[in-house]
Amino acid sequence: MKIIKTKKKLLKKLKKKKFNISLIPTMGNIHQGHLFLIKKSIKISNLIIVSIFLNKPQFNKLQDFINYPQTIKEDLKKLKKNKVDIVFLPNEKEIYPDGFYKHTIVSVKKTSTILENKNRPNHLNGVSTIICKLFNLIQPKYSIFGEKDYQQLYIIKTLVKELNYNIKIISIPIIREKNGLAISSRNNLLTKNEKKRASYIYKYLKKIKKKIYYYKFKIFKKIKKKYKKKFLKKKIKLESLHIRDSKNLKIISKNSKKAIILISVFIKNIRLIDNIFVNLKKNK
Ligand code: PAF
Repeated sequence: MKIIKTKKKLLKKLKKKKFNISLIPTMGNIHQGHLFLIKKSIKISNLIIVSIFLNKPQFNKLQDFINYPQTIKEDLKKLKKNKVDIVFLPNEKEIYPDGFYKHTIVSVKKTSTILENKNRPNHLNGVSTIICKLFNLIQPKYSIFGEKDYQQLYIIKTLVKELNYNIKIISIPIIREKNGLAISSRNNLLTKNEKKRASYIYKYLKKIKKKIYYYKFKIFKKIKKKYKKKFLKKKIKLESLHIRDSKNLKIISKNSKKAIILISVFIKNIRLIDNIFVNLKKNK
C-alpha cells in the first residue's frame, strides 16, 4: 500500500498505467462501514484509492471539527490489511492552497439548502466542493459511498450528472452495530452507556416506519411530537425528523413510490444521523 501526500506524486503514479480506479473518500477514523465500501470496490476495480482528509469547510461548528476522532495510525493498518492500493493523505494546504477565503465553492444549489442545511449551514457545499476536487484530481471510474448520509449521497449523484463526470456512484446500505446503531466515526465519541441508548434511534425509526404503513404519512407531525418525547425519556434530543421521496428528496406526492425517513439527534453534544426506507406502494 502506498501513502501519497501530494497531488503531484499522486498524478505521477496514476499517469503510469491505465487503471480502473475506485475512489473511497473518507475523513479517517476507518470503521466497519468504510471496510464494506472497500470490499465492494475490490470486486469492480484494479486500483483502490482511499482518501483521508478532514475537510474543515464542511464543519459548521469548529468544535465539531476539533472533536472529530483522528486515528491515522490505526486507519493505515486497517486499510493495508484490507488491500487498499493507495491512501491519499493530503494536508490542508495541498487541498486549499489559497486558504478558505478565496477558494472555489461547488454548490448543488437547491438540494444543499434543504433538510440538513437547516441545522448545518454550508455543510453540504463543503462536501460537494471537496468531492469535486477529488474527482477532478483522481478521475476514478467508480466512487463508493454509504447511504447513511443520504442527502450527501444524493448531492454527489446530482453533481456527477450536472457536471458531466464520467464516474459511477455506487451506494452501500447502512452498516449497523449488533444493537442496530448505524456505524459512524462519531460513535467512538460515545460511552458504552450512551451507545446503548443510541440503539433507540433505529428501534424508534422502525416503529415510526410501521406507523406510517398503518396510518399513512398524513399524521407525521403527530408522530414526530410523540417520538420527540419518547427520545427525551432516553436522554436523546430529537433535532429533526423528515419524510421525503427517496428519489428526489422532495415532499411526498401521490406519485412517490418509495420514501425515506431521515433523522438527526443529539446524545450529549454528539450529533448522530440515520434513515430508513419506506415502500409506499405497499401502503396504497
Ligand atoms: O462522509 C464523509 O466522510 C465526508 O463527508 C466525505 C464524503 C469524505 C467528504 O469529506
